[in-house]
Amino acid sequence: MHREIRIEKYGDAAKLVLRDQRAELQPKPEEVLIDVKYSGVNFADIQMRMGLYPDAPPRPFVPGYEVSGIVEAVGSSVSGLVPGDRVLAGTYFGGYSSKVSVPKNQVFKLPSSFELEKAAALPVSYFTARLALIEMGRVREGDRVLIECATGGVGTIAIQMAKSLGAEVVGLTTTPSKKAYIESYGAQAFTVEELEADPSIARFDFVLNASGGRSISKQLKRLDLTGRIVCMGLNASVGGGRANPLRVLKTVLGTPIFPVLSLMNKNRGVYGLNALRVLEDAEWVERLTKALEADLVRLGLDPHVDRVFPCEEVKDAHLLLENKAAKGKVLIGWS
Ligand SMILES: NC(=O)c1ccc[n+]([C@@H]2O[C@H](COP(=O)([O-])OP(=O)(O)OC[C@H]3O[C@@H](n4cnc5c(N)ncnc54)[C@H](OP(=O)(O)O)[C@@H]3O)[C@@H](O)[C@H]2O)c1
Repeated sequence: MHREIRIEKYGDAAKLVLRDQRAELQPKPEEVLIDVKYSGVNFADIQMRMGLYPDAPPRPFVPGYEVSGIVEAVGSSVSGLVPGDRVLAGTYFGGYSSKVSVPKNQVFKLPSSFELEKAAALPVSYFTARLALIEMGRVREGDRVLIECATGGVGTIAIQMAKSLGAEVVGLTTTPSKKAYIESYGAQAFTVEELEADPSIARFDFVLNASGGRSISKQLKRLDLTGRIVCMGLNASVGGGRANPLRVLKTVLGTPIFPVLSLMNKNRGVYGLNALRVLEDAEWVERLTKALEADLVRLGLDPHVDRVFPCEEVKDAHLLLENKAAKGKVLIGWS
């Protein structure tokens, strides 16, 4: 038997349901069965719980993009992993579960020194930050980098990655009391309002945008010549615990459209990022998993886990994130 948390109805955090599953999970030939210890909670899970996530499967479904745990069994064609190995894995949905069976190429064996708790906090944050800063943004030594949502899971890793690459980093938050958290990673911290009020905070080579809507046009003005902006989220469309169609519409309509000629004249680049689409490509999964191995050492990435909630308290895990009360990552623990 295993347990899983499902989205059966859209709505507030209380709509998440914990269910027992009696069916035995068996790994297919190319799969690895993992006894999950921790599942990562992401902003996207909140959007899908509200029915605001077009990529989500039809209800009922189990959300969750990432887990860490112990290999319980491997399929007949799997090599390089054995029962008992400590691993992290990307799960394209299904991660809010005490057991998962996933293809071998989505599983990464952990170095002995890396804690299981931190491991569940890594896959989404790392892959997203890597795609945005390195694959798309080509951030390099001396660049000036602006990271929005700097206190979240992705933001924390993005700051660490940019600093390790030798960039000068500015982190943004909507919560003044979290500025010290950003500064603790060696970045300058501003609230969104402080940035908007001070036009001299500018000439960025790279911006990581998470709010979407009008914030993109505002941040574009801060880019230096040849600057790149990566748009990865629509945070501005979320608030109040449930879907708010007016808020969503305002964010979507506020999102700018870029004529190529205007980008040419301004010497700027705009990227859109959907990591899920990249991770559907087996070659990219292999490439990024190899990069993770190297980057863990090269960039010294260290996810910050704010809190681990027992699976029975998943509602509180979602509330901590959506009420902007978390710093770094929130996890679900399976005992
Ligand atoms: N495109 C992709 O492939 C991809 C992949 C992963 C994540 N993302 C996006 O990256 C962003 C960060 O994701 P994450 O999982 O790292 O986030 P997270 O850890 O859940 O971040 C939560 C933090 O976001 C800030 N925030 C800003 N606007 C908010 C709002 N309307 N409601 C609640 N919190 C808000 C708050 O920080 P402050 O209090 O400091 O403002 C909050 O504490 C999200 O937009 C997510 O959708 C995109």
